[in-house]
Amino acid sequence: MLAARRAGVALRRGRLPAAHGAGAGAGAGSVQPRGPPRPVGPTPRAVDLRSDTVTRPCAGMRRAMARAAVGDDDYGEDPAVNELQCLAAGILGMEEALFVPTATMANLIAVMCHCQRRGAQMLLGRDSHLHLYEHGGAAQVAGVHSQALPDLPDGTFDLDQLELTIREAHGSRYHPRPELICLENTHSSAGGRALPLTYLQQVRGLADRYGLRVHMDGARLMNAAVAQDVEPARIAQHCDSVSLCFSKGLGAPAGAVLAGRKEFVAEAWRVRKLGRGDAAGRRIVGPLSTPGGIQGLNSPVCSVDLVAVETNIVMVSIRGGWPSPTELCEHLRAVSEEELAETGQAVSVLLFPWSAHAVRAVWHRDISAHDTELAKNKLAFVARKCQEKLALGLRPTPPSAGGA
Ligand SMILES: Cc1ncc(COP(=O)(O)O)c(C=O)c1O
Repeated sequence: MLAARRAGVALRRGRLPAAHGAGAGAGAGSVQPRGPPRPVGPTPRAVDLRSDTVTRPCAGMRRAMARAAVGDDDYGEDPAVNELQCLAAGILGMEEALFVPTATMANLIAVMCHCQRRGAQMLLGRDSHLHLYEHGGAAQVAGVHSQALPDLPDGTFDLDQLELTIREAHGSRYHPRPELICLENTHSSAGGRALPLTYLQQVRGLADRYGLRVHMDGARLMNAAVAQDVEPARIAQHCDSVSLCFSKGLGAPAGAVLAGRKEFVAEAWRVRKLGRGDAAGRRIVGPLSTPGGIQGLNSPVCSVDLVAVETNIVMVSIRGGWPSPTELCEHLRAVSEEELAETGQAVSVLLFPWSAHAVRAVWHRDISAHDTELAKNKLAFVARKCQEKLALGLRPTPPSAGGA
């Protein structure tokens, strides 16, 4: 968490130099594209910013896992799981919590518990993880209809639109029955935005008015708590249930919890049984997730809206048609002799091509300040090369496999 703050502050203060305007050199075509970069001089240092899911258990966590007292969780006899559930419930200010292997399962169980009638509908963000990346489990497994609403840039819904959508269906004999509102906090596709507390309160009010429940996909809720400087329970208080993931910034190999009222968690236990998600409870320890920085990426090639950077996720917007997000990621990943000659470093930076116009960088506990510096230098190098190509009016060709 401290690392999170330090990196976030560094980012806002603009301590990291601009990615443009420094040095000169040959075209970006010399950058090696896909696949493992051809070894150049020293072994390239990899800075993996694709996601905070790439974090690995630290030594302390491995030790704790090896030493954890274990028991049969089916009988409620695994002390480590019991302790973890208790701890998580306390932190989230919920009555109880249930350990599950993944946040995807936590979200699905929540949907199944909250929406038990046939023809139930949940309202959720069009770009939310639950809607896009969880294999449509709500439809496939739970048989719940998804009413997907546009997510605003800060990860919220337009509340008037939310209410209108609920009102249209509320009491109608033709619409599926709206029963659940799902929020994502922080909102990953919005670039790690933390949902404002007043907004959460308003959503709660709306849900109460129409008799709906509120579930929060809080895979990164701790990041929101850090960004807003509040206890996690202050965020969770507006929800009927919350999922929290351990395999992101925490560095755990797997694991999540689903928290809520006692009766809800009892029901969740039954649903978990259905997916046999009760196996293998583990003691999970370790620090919380971390943000970081790419300040000064504003160049003719790409830009970062620093106002939108609230937690550990940074969306880098690509200007113009080249390089595409995938090409930019390839350039950042590749290591060339030119880079080594110009910068004296061989660094492979891994980012994720998020959309047609953006790449995503996610900071986490395994990224040191030095890694950030290396990534920043590499971004500066690649941006410079791309600009040089563009300035020469060259039609850039994506680097071919095996290039230098
Ligand atoms: C916002 C959000 N929710 C849920 C999940 C799913 O987590 P898990 O991999 O534990 O299923 C992710 C994974 O990246 C996520 O980003």
